Amino acid sequence: MSIQASPARSLPAGKPAFDAATVRAAFPILAREVNGKPLVYLDSAASSQRPLAVLRAVEHYETRLHANVHRGVHSLSQWATEAYENARETVRRHLHARSTHEIVFVRGTTEAINLVANSWGRRHLRAGDEILITYLEHHANIVPWQMLCAATGASLRAAPVKANGELDLAGFRSMLSAHTRLVAVAHISNALGTILPVQEIVRLAHARGVPVLLDGAQAVPHQAVDVQAIDCDFYAFSGHKVYGPTGIGALYARESLLSAMPPWQGGGDMILSVNIKESTYNALPWRFEAGTPNISGAVGLGAALDYLDSLGLAAVAAHEHALLELATERLSALPRLKLIGTASDKAAVLSFTMEGVHPHDIGTILDTEGIAIRTGHHCAMPIMEAFGLAATARASFGCYNNAEDVERLVEGLKKVRKVFG
Ligand code: ALA
Repeated sequence: MSIQASPARSLPAGKPAFDAATVRAAFPILAREVNGKPLVYLDSAASSQRPLAVLRAVEHYETRLHANVHRGVHSLSQWATEAYENARETVRRHLHARSTHEIVFVRGTTEAINLVANSWGRRHLRAGDEILITYLEHHANIVPWQMLCAATGASLRAAPVKANGELDLAGFRSMLSAHTRLVAVAHISNALGTILPVQEIVRLAHARGVPVLLDGAQAVPHQAVDVQAIDCDFYAFSGHKVYGPTGIGALYARESLLSAMPPWQGGGDMILSVNIKESTYNALPWRFEAGTPNISGAVGLGAALDYLDSLGLAAVAAHEHALLELATERLSALPRLKLIGTASDKAAVLSFTMEGVHPHDIGTILDTEGIAIRTGHHCAMPIMEAFGLAATARASFGCYNNAEDVERLVEGLKKVRKVFG
């Protein structure tokens, strides 16, 4: 297996082959040292780094185009509006949504899910109804539903997970019932890297007339996502996990659902007219974007998706899969290290424990070596609990990582073992 030569054959004719060294060089922060050592960044599942293309797009917007959007007749306002709406079209194209009416800019995945819970959820859920999630969910795909259940009298149920971290699909199917009103699941688990069978989940839910929301925060950076092919009803993702800025993300919502949803926040930009008695609301998608939006964030997100497209998502996925295989093989060979989550369909995320060592100590010692990983419950306490753990160490890979990063991680973990015996 070579992770240097990612498969150019999967790229459309005319596209340059994925070149890991060129990709790495596009991310300036990766050239810095941390604690006197060259940085090895293995925390992309928490937040990815940004390429120059994104930094420059944001700088260009801020230094040449900025004004408020949808409001001004002056040139800057029109340029800013154009930049913002072009970014929406980029998101639409990237997710293969039918229309930009279906793309709402939000602060990130968390806000997208809260929007659906507060708008769609409060309108459609009653006492006795059920929302079905899984034990793999991030807190962002649990807590908004708990709050909705508290407000409506509905209940939250969670489908079980197998010992290897895969969804127990039979268990999921048996929990889908005449009471289920919504299915909300991760596309890829942030804690374990499990890729969920989302097309099958959608098929099963739709057979019962139940809409499906997918938390795509960990999927959009790593693989092509086609909301029409998946046939989901809602799809949420964050800019900062896909090489874009923080504080921006998008919600895809099927137009037939979104057009019947009430606004969830009121204010400027989401109205057509206001008098003291009542207001009328704007068309889609602006009805869901109250207040001045994160314009430069949207521009940066558009640039990030364009950057990812320029690499070719099939090539990125193949490169990261090769890294996952290499890291799995190398870490499995380390004494008293246990990988948590070994699903057959997995993204490049390795959660692990080391016997006799607290995950925070692993993270702290690796940091002295310039290696950044995440330790803790990864905002996914239910799956940690299901594995009988309070925390794991987690190395997560992005398009800029390479085999040397894996070797540095392995050397760092050997050092941890030496310290703790
Ligand atoms: N959701 C982020 C993570 O997985 C914060 O680390």
